[in-house]
Amino acid sequence: MNPDELEALIRSRRSSLLLDAHKQVGNDLLQRVVDAAQFAPNHRRTWPLRVAAVTGASRSVLGDTIADAMAMFGDDEAKVVKARTKYLRSPVVLVVASAQGSSENETEENKYAVAAGIQNMLLMAHSLGLAALWGSPAKGANEAIARTCGFETSDHVMGLVYVGWPTQQVPSVERPPTRVNFLD
Ligand SMILES: Cc1cc2nc3c(=O)[nH]c(=O)nc-3n(C[C@H](O)[C@H](O)[C@H](O)COP(=O)(O)O)c2cc1C
Repeated sequence: MNPDELEALIRSRRSSLLLDAHKQVGNDLLQRVVDAAQFAPNHRRTWPLRVAAVTGASRSVLGDTIADAMAMFGDDEAKVVKARTKYLRSPVVLVVASAQGSSENETEENKYAVAAGIQNMLLMAHSLGLAALWGSPAKGANEAIARTCGFETSDHVMGLVYVGWPTQQVPSVERPPTRVNFLD
């Protein structure tokens, strides 16, 4: 891949949930998407990436777990109801978490590393012709999600990434110019 191709890939990536919820994504492709995240930088080989690939009926289990946690947290009833079926919108949801570090600073920097990893995942998915969207975890549901996904409860859930085959392409959007303060 030359620089122009890399730039084109980065610039054409869009978040999208316009995907086929019933068309499966093979494990080989999912593994490539997930592995891309491991190649993001992390502070002194802390390897904070934690991932669960949630498919099939487990998507409803995840939705119910999150909905129950949201209800306990006092979330809006409409949001709670929506959460129960939300994860059925894509054939797979990659739950991505960041491990706790040995200090507050390491824990924080682990999150940066995993966020960078998620962008790698989104780009890898895009390069494979997959649609993807980084969704936020519901507030108050961290522990419930972590338990369901087999993570440590101290892991911080960074995102629930919907992945599937697109039914429509999403056009690129105009971005604001990048402001750079050049210091000479
Ligand atoms: C930390 C983070 C959390 C996000 N959470 C959500 C979310 O909960 N729901 C959603 O629809 N999109 C979510 N997004 C995706 C953004 O909506 C999307 O990236 C933004 O609209 C820009 O669009 P683009 O990705 O196509 O450039 C999230 C993105 C990030 C980085």
